[in-house]
Amino acid sequence: MRCRVTPAAVVVSGDRDGAPAAFTARRAGHLITMMLMRAPGVYRAESDTEVLIAEMHRGAYATGRRVLDLGTGTGAVALAAARAGASSVTAVDLSARSVAAARLNAGLAGLAVDVRRGDLFAPVAGERFDLVVSNPPYVPARTQRLPRHARARCWDGGTDGRAVLDRICSGAADVLSDDGQILLVHSALCGTRTTVDALGDAGFAPTVLTRVRIPFGPVLRARAAMLEERGMIAAGERVEELVVVAGIRGEKASRADDLRTRELRGSDR
Ligand SMILES: C[S@@+](CC[C@H](N)C(=O)[O-])C[C@H]1O[C@@H](n2cnc3c(N)ncnc32)[C@H](O)[C@@H]1O
Repeated sequence: MRCRVTPAAVVVSGDRDGAPAAFTARRAGHLITMMLMRAPGVYRAESDTEVLIAEMHRGAYATGRRVLDLGTGTGAVALAAARAGASSVTAVDLSARSVAAARLNAGLAGLAVDVRRGDLFAPVAGERFDLVVSNPPYVPARTQRLPRHARARCWDGGTDGRAVLDRICSGAADVLSDDGQILLVHSALCGTRTTVDALGDAGFAPTVLTRVRIPFGPVLRARAAMLEERGMIAAGERVEELVVVAGIRGEKASRADDLRTRELRGSDR
């Protein structure tokens, strides 16, 4: 495999020009900065990466826990978990280049991350973790077909954006300890309530930790007409909401229902 490794451009919202820089996430007033290398085709850490890391740190979700990062890309979230004091970090991605990038970035940072190639839970079958984190592909696409090798593998989530997300919601409990937790980031375009309900159905007490509004990036801009046609956005709407949803296992379903009611006020899609 030919693999040209270049410094990753970073994440601060609006940085789309590919200029080499360090990835920066804000955490409770502090900045987390890491240099991430990536080959072409590996997802550049973006606003969704940043929001997920910030929430993971804010709630100290990873500290002292066995963490599984699904769809690791450059390894940004996995590295942040390791830096936050996770007892172990395992990271999975379908793409060989992403696996290579995450291994390289962990090695350069001197952090122990076990990076495996494969489809979601397949590489960790039979293992148990305390926290599953994921920034999965979640952008609504023209077709239900998920590209396995093209770059769009990083963001295409089938026609409603939920093809990978729903598999994570329904499969996470099988790899989590009894009081395990899950943290997911995605666009409200593919349904915050649907994620909360899916986690509730899978035995989690779900809650929406944060909502962040950001302008459409290039992928959503290119799909805006299609999303308007489908009624997924209003005419001329070019701002999306990123949400981080958390789920805790083992709590009572009634608590989940309370949270659903409390957290889902307003215009969730
Ligand atoms: C939106 S990117 C997130 C990358 C990284 N976690 C971040 O936040 O910057 C989604 C990642 O999921 C990977 N992916 C897509 N489908 C997958 C699957 N079925 N199993 C494992 N990884 C998958 C893609 O290759 C891509 O690296």
